[in-house]
Amino acid sequence: SPAGPCSVVIFGAAGDLTKRLLVPALYNLANTGLVPEKFGLLGADIADLDAKHWTGSLREMLESFVGDPEAEDQIKQVDDAAWDRLRAHADYVQGDFTRDEFYETLKSRLEAIENSQGTGGNRLFYLAVADRFFAPIVEHLGKAGLVTEDESGGGTWRRIIIEKPFGHDLASAQDLNRRLLSVVDERQIYRIDHFLGKETVQNIMALRFGNGIFDPLWNRDRIDHVQITVAETVGVEGRAKFYEQAGALRDMVPNHVFQLVAMVAMEPPVGVRAEAIRDKKLELFSAIRTLRPEDAVRGQYGAGEVSGQSARGYREEPGVAADSNTETYVALRLAIDNWRWAGVPFYIRTGKHLSERMTEIAIRFRKQPLAPFQGASLDGLPPNWLVLRIQPDEGIAIEFEVKQPGQTMRLAPARMQFRYRDRFEPEPNVGYETLLYDCMIGDQTLFQRADMVEETWRVVGRVLDAWGRDRAADFPNYRSGSAGPDAADKLLADDEPTRRWRPVALDPAES
Ligand code: BG6
Repeated sequence: SPAGPCSVVIFGAAGDLTKRLLVPALYNLANTGLVPEKFGLLGADIADLDAKHWTGSLREMLESFVGDPEAEDQIKQVDDAAWDRLRAHADYVQGDFTRDEFYETLKSRLEAIENSQGTGGNRLFYLAVADRFFAPIVEHLGKAGLVTEDESGGGTWRRIIIEKPFGHDLASAQDLNRRLLSVVDERQIYRIDHFLGKETVQNIMALRFGNGIFDPLWNRDRIDHVQITVAETVGVEGRAKFYEQAGALRDMVPNHVFQLVAMVAMEPPVGVRAEAIRDKKLELFSAIRTLRPEDAVRGQYGAGEVSGQSARGYREEPGVAADSNTETYVALRLAIDNWRWAGVPFYIRTGKHLSERMTEIAIRFRKQPLAPFQGASLDGLPPNWLVLRIQPDEGIAIEFEVKQPGQTMRLAPARMQFRYRDRFEPEPNVGYETLLYDCMIGDQTLFQRADMVEETWRVVGRVLDAWGRDRAADFPNYRSGSAGPDAADKLLADDEPTRRWRPVALDPAES
């Protein structure tokens, strides 16, 4: 059912994120009837635009998605009635977020929308801006009285969605938390991680806690190790200014990848309340051992070929330093010091300009104690895998051995597979729809809490320090279009000589 009356204020309204992800998500919500009748949309940015031009450019962007295979998860067609629900009550305020005057204008324009729409003063502020603006904007909103909630029982809410990156290390995340929490309450802050809005990520809970068959296997007795791969074919794509400062570790690991780790590794929550689930994730993050530099491998792409197109090296990208030390690939070995996972390594890797766009979680089971087949040695038996494909070709596969037909007892690998697209009509959703809607209805389950963010920065802190201090002597160390640097193989082989990464490839049967 639709969310209750509210206005959405987007800071960074003229930016890329708003155009590519937020407005398409709002549009899809409008199209499925989840945006309330009483609704207002206010864009705010430094760009010199007015409401007409702003909404015009958003509509153009939506149209450009239709029929674009790259954006196929986003928009199927643009429906005029749905679009009008957003556009009819949209306004745009131009100005400088760092100045007091801006917030006076914002306030009067927002109140004008609220009065004409009857939104009851419920406000969602979306901070789709560079991270240096997060604290100043919230402080200004506080000063202007825009985020104070009505304590008198009126039930009016004021919520703030904060984009990533939430800090760039532990100290800056703590500082940002302090500044935000001096203005608003934790229950008003929605730290977004769009991976948590993905269907396949939410499905990990359904798989683990909604099925009797997997739970007894889900521990150190039966699981040998876990591999998590977030491989991308895209490069830095015009984001060099941000990416040069961030790098793959900060950009992907303490947020997206660790959320995948948490979904796989957390204990069953006691109940479904947001805090019940977030407490279990915090507990898990707290159990991850602080990484040492020897648990980490960094890489940077050189020239090569991605998806059949020749691709330049990272250092040749516009805006990137010719001797850049920024990593575009990272592989890590995590140790989780708790009862369930002691001794089970979680290997994770993520990188840009790799051979395939593919995010998956692969769980490798322990070998059998004996191989009671003619001529079969234990080493010759391939391991069993449970593979959760997060994207694309979303699904779940189990890889196991069967008897090859014939007079001898020979084993052959088989694969049993569930695919979303065979079973369900795909709903467009990159993650943002779910999360925007959850924020409108006040559900914080899929958002990061202050303590969770701080714990994840603690885990990666020593590696960040070491990489900031010591230049990588071997950059660029992987070819665009490859599976990443060879050094990543050592992380696994050092633990166990026969251990290998799974190929960064879509299963041939799937495409
Ligand atoms: C973003 C990162 O948070 O996530 C990008 O900043 C990355 O570098 C993106 O490409 C990946 O998200 P998705 O939904 O395209 O897998």
